[in-house]
Amino acid sequence: DDTVDVDLSAIPPGQQTVVTWRGWPVFVQRRTAAMLASLQAPGAAQRLRDPESKILQQPKDATNWHRSVVPEIGVLIGICTHLGCVPSYDTPSPADQSGKYACPCHGSQFDIAGRAYKNAPAPYNLPVPPVTMVSETHLRIG
Ligand code: FES
Repeated sequence: DDTVDVDLSAIPPGQQTVVTWRGWPVFVQRRTAAMLASLQAPGAAQRLRDPESKILQQPKDATNWHRSVVPEIGVLIGICTHLGCVPSYDTPSPADQSGKYACPCHGSQFDIAGRAYKNAPAPYNLPVPPVTMVSETHLRIG
């Protein structure tokens, strides 16, 4: 059994926790309304390399604008698609409430849905693992 269960009630809104699944770091986010709004803001898609995630597909139930099973919970494999560093999470701040990721190695950036920004080395969006909502407060990865 290589599934991992995550207690969502332990994650404050706007924050993430990192768990290990199959040896990979997996980011589990509790998204705020502002984070979700940032995904649909005018012009947001133009900054992205692959806004529809056509190149690296996610599971069917996460093939949507928020790349997750439910909009408020995001789950991403935390391995930069350039050369495999672990991107760091920029928590929402008053100046920027979107929440995003920055790779410390060569400057790639990803939005809160794990989509890679243009003009940076990461060629693909961050992968989304299979996720099942076990209850309102628990999910299962794998
Ligand atoms: Fe992330 Fe190169 S490994 S930008």
